[in-house]
Amino acid sequence: MKLSIAAAILIHLATADWQFKSRPDLAPPRLNITIPAAPNVEQGYLFVAPFAGYPDTATEQHGPRQAAPYIFRDNGDLVWSGYGYYSIWSTNFQAGKWNGKDVLFSFEGDHNPGYGHGHGHTTILDQHYETIRELRAGNHKLTDKHEFHIVGDDTAVIQVYQPVPRDLTPWGASEEQQWIVNAIFQELNITSGELLFEWASLDHISPDEAILPINPGQAGSGYNSSDAWDYFHINSVDKNEAGDYLLSARDACAVHKINGTDGRVIWRLDGKQSSFSLGKGVKFCFQHHARFHPELKAKDDGDDIEIISLYDNSAHGSEDGRDNEVHTAPTSSGKIIKLNTTSWTAELVQGFYPPDDLRSKSQGSTQLLPNGNAIVNWGSSGALTEYDANGTVLFHTYFDSGYLGLGVENYRGFRYNWTGLPNEEPAIVALQNAKGTTIYVSWNGDTETKTWRFYEAGKRNRRHYLGEAKRSSFETSFHVQGKSVAHVVAEAVDTKGRTLKSTRGTSVQNEVLPAHGLSKPEPIVVQEPRNMEL
Ligand SMILES: *[C@@H]1O[C@H](CO)[C@@H](O)[C@H](O)[C@H]1NC(C)=O
Ligand SMILES: *[C@@H]1O[C@H](CO)[C@@H](O)[C@H](O)[C@H]1NC(C)=O
Ligand SMILES: *[C@@H]1O[C@H](CO)[C@@H](O)[C@H](O)[C@H]1NC(C)=O
Ligand SMILES: *[C@@H]1O[C@H](CO)[C@@H](O)[C@H](O)[C@H]1NC(C)=O
Ligand SMILES: *[C@@H]1O[C@H](CO)[C@@H](O)[C@H](O)[C@H]1NC(C)=O
Ligand SMILES: *[C@@H]1O[C@H](CO)[C@@H](O)[C@H](O)[C@H]1NC(C)=O
Ligand SMILES: *[C@@H]1O[C@H](CO)[C@@H](O)[C@H](O)[C@H]1NC(C)=O
Repeated sequence: MKLSIAAAILIHLATADWQFKSRPDLAPPRLNITIPAAPNVEQGYLFVAPFAGYPDTATEQHGPRQAAPYIFRDNGDLVWSGYGYYSIWSTNFQAGKWNGKDVLFSFEGDHNPGYGHGHGHTTILDQHYETIRELRAGNHKLTDKHEFHIVGDDTAVIQVYQPVPRDLTPWGASEEQQWIVNAIFQELNITSGELLFEWASLDHISPDEAILPINPGQAGSGYNSSDAWDYFHINSVDKNEAGDYLLSARDACAVHKINGTDGRVIWRLDGKQSSFSLGKGVKFCFQHHARFHPELKAKDDGDDIEIISLYDNSAHGSEDGRDNEVHTAPTSSGKIIKLNTTSWTAELVQGFYPPDDLRSKSQGSTQLLPNGNAIVNWGSSGALTEYDANGTVLFHTYFDSGYLGLGVENYRGFRYNWTGLPNEEPAIVALQNAKGTTIYVSWNGDTETKTWRFYEAGKRNRRHYLGEAKRSSFETSFHVQGKSVAHVVAEAVDTKGRTLKSTRGTSVQNEVLPAHGLSKPEPIVVQEPRNMEL
């Protein structure tokens, strides 16, 4: 009996890292902030879901120790660990509004890194971090991880990779190479799950537009449904006021505008059949996250002007050691592009170029913020940068530190405002050593506590006030001066002095100091990265 408990504790400590005394179970990534936030970064928290791009083995571990959705402050302080709230493999974690309510959502499911596909569902949480909806694709199809985007009060777009058999001999395939990915997107009613619109690439887009040929090891060989030729690869979908859609098709190196009534292609930007001539700096390839930006139009711009943003990888996975040898530009970048459908010209409004010359073979996002700043998330490079409107860097972070920073990736990264009111109760521990007693409290996901009040819990529910501490970080500590206490309790208090929640009472324990320091340095083990296409 005793032995099995000891074994369980050892396994537990192997994945946790004792960052928080009150939550020894949590081991969030330690952000490696190389450019601290300037005063003019936008307000709000960072929303990310870092994961290991390298496979773990029995002897080698890679960061993050707990891959999950996370909310952080700009100084790297944890606000919420979604580890255990979202399970399996989670990505595309964001805050949004659904029917007027503030919600969190994330893809949750299986992940096939070799093909860049993921199958599962979208899980929506409320402000109390309770699951309020799980949404699956309509029409007997499996939701893919790349997109979930709320485009109306109660509607969202998602996408699907559907392998189908076709005669592909016109594209250089043998008769055995029959399988191709039909890149599908759907608009769904979030409440009912009803399928409102469905569009399939093979109805409108010829494989002539493919940049990567049908070929083992690139975009699929077509020999079976698992290795279907991913000729188009939709990785983002947006919808405008007029009801038309914007697609980013990575494997066509193009962004397509799709008529929301008849599904026809309205225009193509870049790729083999661009409708526009491209101005300096516009050209992109293997891109992600294309979004409409009508709010950036000038007052006198007519209907012939459209502004979009995207993340330009300019690279894809390859056979080389670092996985970005196949590239079309020196670095990846975020881009704002202005389109004129009278002159059919595309002009770069602003490019956002990376610190440290990052070039990511997969994943990535560009979020334009209300104050004109932009957040660029460098996908497989595991980093995020905030810029002012002119492209000046205001903040830069990598998603983990030390050897755990190696190979950390993050599909998309955002800044949002968020009010978190956790149903989970706050955690407390009181530890005593020769210098006295220190009480540690934390409340995963809480954004409202300004002060913690501490009490000695006496008999018959009587409390003796010990003092208070300003909430300083994810975890707040309070040292009990000149008094020996046995049983303590803490209260979370907001800016208006209202008590939000109490911890349960806890007995003081003898402190155990870390035997090797909090984070003992471990050797860096460099592995061959997997070939990953997201
Ligand atoms: C979504 O479904 C709900 C519940 O059936 C319905 O009340 C609502 O009108 C629908 N909205 C849209 C946009 O279809
Ligand atoms: C599918 O085809 C690929 C390429 O020929 C092969 O490597 C893979 O093992 C096949 N998978 C299945 C499930 O047959
Ligand atoms: C979309 O298609 C409908 C029906 O064919 C057509 O009336 C409309 O003009 C099209 N819109 C655009 C922007 O092409
Ligand atoms: C769009 O192109 C037309 C035709 O060249 C030109 O007259 C118009 O000024 C352009 N619009 C803008 C906002 O540049
Ligand atoms: C961008 O640069 C222009 C010209 O130097 C300056 O007027 C403007 O304030 C800058 N904007 C930002 C957001 O820094
Ligand atoms: C942070 O990232 C920089 C740039 O990649 C690297 O040189 C440095 O070693 C990292 N620091 C830590 C603590 O991981
Ligand atoms: C957060 O709220 C502040 C205050 O309303 C606003 O100025 C800012 O633009 C918001 N940030 C984001 C990322 O929406």
